[in-house]
Amino acid sequence: MNRIRLLSEQVANQIAAGEVVERPASVVKELVENSLDADAKKITIEIGAGGRSLIRVTDDGTGMSRDDALLCLERHATSKIQRAEDLASIVTLGFRGEAVPSIASVSRFILTTRERESTSPEGTQIIINGGTIAEVKAAGSAPGTSIEVRQLFYNLPARRKFLRTEETEAAHIQHYLTLAALAFPEVAFTFVKDGRNVWQLPAVKSERVISSRIGALRERLRALLGDEKLLPVNFSASLDEDNSVSEETDIFETASPEKPSASEISNLKSQIRIWGLIGSPGVSRATRESQFVFVNRRPVENRGINYALIEGYHNSLMKGRYPVCCLFLEIDPAAVDVNIHPAKREVKFHREFEIRKFTAQAVREALLAFHSESSTESKRWGERPREPIRLPAACDSRANLRKHRAMNEHLVAGHAMTRSRVPSCARKNPADAARSGRRC
Ligand SMILES: Nc1ncnc2c1ncn2[C@@H]1O[C@H](COP(=O)(O)OP(=O)(O)O)[C@@H](O)[C@H]1O
Ligand SMILES: [Mg+2]
Repeated sequence: MNRIRLLSEQVANQIAAGEVVERPASVVKELVENSLDADAKKITIEIGAGGRSLIRVTDDGTGMSRDDALLCLERHATSKIQRAEDLASIVTLGFRGEAVPSIASVSRFILTTRERESTSPEGTQIIINGGTIAEVKAAGSAPGTSIEVRQLFYNLPARRKFLRTEETEAAHIQHYLTLAALAFPEVAFTFVKDGRNVWQLPAVKSERVISSRIGALRERLRALLGDEKLLPVNFSASLDEDNSVSEETDIFETASPEKPSASEISNLKSQIRIWGLIGSPGVSRATRESQFVFVNRRPVENRGINYALIEGYHNSLMKGRYPVCCLFLEIDPAAVDVNIHPAKREVKFHREFEIRKFTAQAVREALLAFHSESSTESKRWGERPREPIRLPAACDSRANLRKHRAMNEHLVAGHAMTRSRVPSCARKNPADAARSGRRC
């Protein structure tokens, strides 16, 4: 008797959902990535109860025909790649054709879409419950796509149990949205949480030249994180040692209407551009919370780049502190593998060592430019040039740093003790205190 059986499409989708949909933030990520890949200029994200009860993502992108809307619910149905070779040079955020069916199989799901190009005011609406299509109908809608996900994991109680509090889940969603909004300043984002407007970020215009894109990024960063002292980074190099790069425009872009042509790509194959904004010396954090790194506009975590940042800052960053930065690495999509992580959070560079070396160099050069600029400024005003911020030699090892901190704390505590030994009346009126000794 045969023991091996093919799983039904629905069970296979639920298994895939286990990889793609870890929590509400993964649903938001997949849906927003689809909107960005569909060339949306405006994306609205609404969530309820940390995404447990509602996630709705609405865009003004290309939209889908009725046939495509039905097809996108099938596993491995994608408009983004066709052949295995395409996997080697992915320029879109999605490519596996798994997210939509996976999300639909673990929620109550409504897809409403209308093609942007279509002249008919009618679109398509598909209602799916736990992966089963309940209704397909024509529906009036604005051009673009709206996907509503209610009661996530309602049919997988084990998964639902693992969700954290509403606040924690909402914080994960907001973190991802921050990354998306930083990577795409030219897209307007609205974020509504439990009926309250959290952000309304207008689209920031920018040209393709890097200086203009840095300006747009600065504006978006200011809107999201407030004012910080940030330095521009604009570095490019050739991965083949002997050529240097002088192009001012971006090298590779994803999800952009103006993607580089095939000939542009082959010309720029071995180049890397690193651009963005980094905190000036003294601007740092105790965690990596404000360290945003993107590879071809995809937010990534990469240990090599983390080290490179610390390396680049060298003495300008205290041990145990992390940089504030928003850095974009642009390289040939064929030089990076984005297919190594189920949620595509991690990437693998084919030339890891050079990427790390150039990232450190890009940071170093931006800091050097800042120091030489500030020393010219101070010379002009007759001041002593500003030294790079360095820790005292005694703080160079972790043990010494702890000692240094303990000493500081001791001094602060001492100061507090001195204050508390002075009678309160003396603090108010020293003359009274002198007259009556310590008694008030
Ligand atoms: N918001 C959207 N706008 C237009 N098309 C979309 C949207 N969301 C999904 N699609 C279509 O559905 C397909 C399947 O989406 P998905 O399952 O996320 O896979 P992938 O993004 O990997 O292709 C996409 O390739 C795209 O053609
Ligand atoms: Mg997708």
